[in-house]
Amino acid sequence: MTNPKLIAANWKMNGRLSMAQTLMEGLKQAVLQKPIPSQMVICPPYPYLGLGASILKNSTIALGAQDCSQRTDGAYTGEVSAAMLKDMGCSYVILGHSERREYHGESDSFVAAKVAQAHKAGLKAILCVGEKDPRMNHEERVGVLKIQLRNSIPASANEQNTVIAYEPIWAIGTGVTPTTQQINDLHKSIRELLPAGMCHRSAILYGGSVNAKNAGEILALSDVDGALVGGASLKLSDFLSIANLGKI
Ligand code: PGA
Repeated sequence: MTNPKLIAANWKMNGRLSMAQTLMEGLKQAVLQKPIPSQMVICPPYPYLGLGASILKNSTIALGAQDCSQRTDGAYTGEVSAAMLKDMGCSYVILGHSERREYHGESDSFVAAKVAQAHKAGLKAILCVGEKDPRMNHEERVGVLKIQLRNSIPASANEQNTVIAYEPIWAIGTGVTPTTQQINDLHKSIRELLPAGMCHRSAILYGGSVNAKNAGEILALSDVDGALVGGASLKLSDFLSIANLGKI
C-alpha cells in the first residue's frame, strides 16, 4: 500500500497549449495554497512536457508521459525514448494503456519491452491492465489479468519502479464502473498475481470513469492505492477534488 495515494492524470490527446498552461499552473497554485494529501502525477501529451517541466519544477506535483519507445535511441522516426522523457523532467510514464494496445496493436511482450526501457531510464512505469468484457465473472477477469501481468512485467520490475493500473476497458470513458466490491476484490487478486519479491508490493491504481463523485468511495477501498484519471483530469476543480480525497 502506498502512503499517500497516487493520483495520475492521463490527459490523452486533449487540450492545446493555453489549456495545458492554465491547468498545470492552476494545479501548482492550488498545491502552494493548500497541500494536497496525495501524490499527483500529470501526464500531458508529449509537446507539453517541456512546459509542464518548467511549471511544475520545485512543486510536489510529478510529471509523466503517456507512452515511450521500446527502443533506446536511433533511426526510429516519430519515436520518443524513455531517456528523453527523463531528460525532460518526467518521473513517470504510462505504458500498455488499452488505447495503445487496441489502436496501435501493442502486445504484452511489446509493452514489457517499453516498461524495461522506462526502468533503464530511471522512470516509474504505470503499467495498465484490464479486461474488455463487463460480463466476465471474477475468475474470468483474473484469468485475463494473469496473462497480461505475466507477459507485460519485465524482470527489471520492482515495487519502486512499477505501478499497476487496473483499468477495465469497458469502464474507460463510459461513466460506468465496477462495484467497489469488485474493484477491491480485483486489486487483491492482482496483488497475488504480481511477481513475489519484485513488485508484489507495488501500488495498484484503479482507472476507468473515476470522477469527483465516485472517487471518495473508490479511494477509500483498502486495496486501492490511487487512481488513473482520464476525462476528469481535464477539469481543474474535478481533478483537485479527486486529489484531495487521496488520504489514507
Ligand atoms: P477515464 O479514462 O477516466 O476517462 O475513464 C481513464 C484512462 O483511460 O486512463
